[in-house]
Amino acid sequence: MVEPTTRASDAVTMDKIVALCKRRGFIFASSEIYGGLGSTYDYGHYGVLLKTNVKNEWWRAMVQERDDIVALDSAILQHPRTWEASGHLAGFTDPMVDCRTCGQRFRADHLGELQCPQKPSKHPGEADACDLTQARDFNLMFETTMGPVKDSGATVYLRPETAQGIFVNFKNVLQFSRKKPPFGIAQVGKSFRNEITPGNFVFRTREFEQMEMEFFVAPDEAPRWYDYWKAARHAWYVELGIRADHLRLREHDPDELSHYSSATADVEYLFPIGWSELEGIANRGDFDLKQHTEFSGQKLEYFDGQTGERYVPHVIEPAAGADRALLAFLVDAYDEDEVGGEPRTVLRIHPRLAPVKVAVLPHMRKDGLPELAREVYGSLRGRMQSEYDEGGAIGKRYRRQDEIGTPYCVTIDHETLENRTVTVRERDSLTQDRVAIDDLPGELAARLAAPWRSPKQ
Ligand code: GAP
Repeated sequence: MVEPTTRASDAVTMDKIVALCKRRGFIFASSEIYGGLGSTYDYGHYGVLLKTNVKNEWWRAMVQERDDIVALDSAILQHPRTWEASGHLAGFTDPMVDCRTCGQRFRADHLGELQCPQKPSKHPGEADACDLTQARDFNLMFETTMGPVKDSGATVYLRPETAQGIFVNFKNVLQFSRKKPPFGIAQVGKSFRNEITPGNFVFRTREFEQMEMEFFVAPDEAPRWYDYWKAARHAWYVELGIRADHLRLREHDPDELSHYSSATADVEYLFPIGWSELEGIANRGDFDLKQHTEFSGQKLEYFDGQTGERYVPHVIEPAAGADRALLAFLVDAYDEDEVGGEPRTVLRIHPRLAPVKVAVLPHMRKDGLPELAREVYGSLRGRMQSEYDEGGAIGKRYRRQDEIGTPYCVTIDHETLENRTVTVRERDSLTQDRVAIDDLPGELAARLAAPWRSPKQ
């Protein structure tokens, strides 16, 4: 076994994550051959596998392991009245300033975090040549037209959050799911915001995926469920391997609260750019159901036929971003060490999230080893995401798997020909055990299901 010798604790930077994502095909700038399109990204093979695992873990925690939450997939395009009722049409704005000198636009409330494009050592507005306009409100919703005629009555919006699709379906779900408060509706899907200053890779983009759940409760139970969901959502990230000292819950000050919220807390992660929001948990009260009742004329309330009780449920909402969560998992996993005198980059990511669970590698490309390795690969691929690789030196193939976070490499060598055992190399500790081929699927499945904690300091 080769021991890892040095560890550069938290060597991670955003630039290293971007470079790794490009090098290993996780995430690319979108429309790259045309020079890219501001802050939209395309996910490659490993990126798709990783993001799917993040979303599946969310579904597992929200729906599979509970019996009080049901799933929904509402349309991206909704009736425009939805956005009048929700307040987005009038109030989903950020303050924007233009610079008359360089022609760039900036979020007025983010100037202190931004660089002047002409003098990057200064913030916009600070260099002598800067000439900023007064701040004005800019609505973040993307507009498009529905149908072949482009007139004002045909204007629709790409949804800026998945939540409203849940509220407008409250009646449908209540009727067909045979649930009563407390119960939740969960949804994962794309949302769109015309952010003035997107950035920091996939942290803030104009097209992104959200994982939102609206939990409907009796009004007097809302404070208790708010506390419950804050704790549950914090625990989800810890269970999936995020280091607890890089995670915190931060309660919003009263002046930070959205118009609909009586209390909100953010789960924050310590990114290389500092503590930043991963997910918000909000007590939305009865704002949304009352607004949609008023704008649609349809009563959105709960009536208990047995007790005669009737009320508008209050809503607790944990709202997370799939891309932002993926970025946090990557940042938290990124590590550098030295193995056998060679530098290594390794993603120490939770095995349940790892894009590939096992790589099968014949030690050499001769003596019947590739054939036997393909047999082993065939016994695993139906049970877990597996990869077969026979090209190049074995050390290089290990490095490649370490970089994409594969927890186990199975090597087929000459001893395998003699006794049908393989070596199982573990990504974090680099231990190598011999396991019989017949026991391999069960052994790997057990190891992958075991609790995991980050070995990073
Ligand atoms: N329904 C409530 C809502 O949408 P939000 O705080 O605006 O709340 C929830 O969004 C989550 O969606 C955020 O915590 C973040 O993870 C993600 N998110 C929001 N805007 C984003 C953007 N421009 N790019 C990537 N993720 C974003």
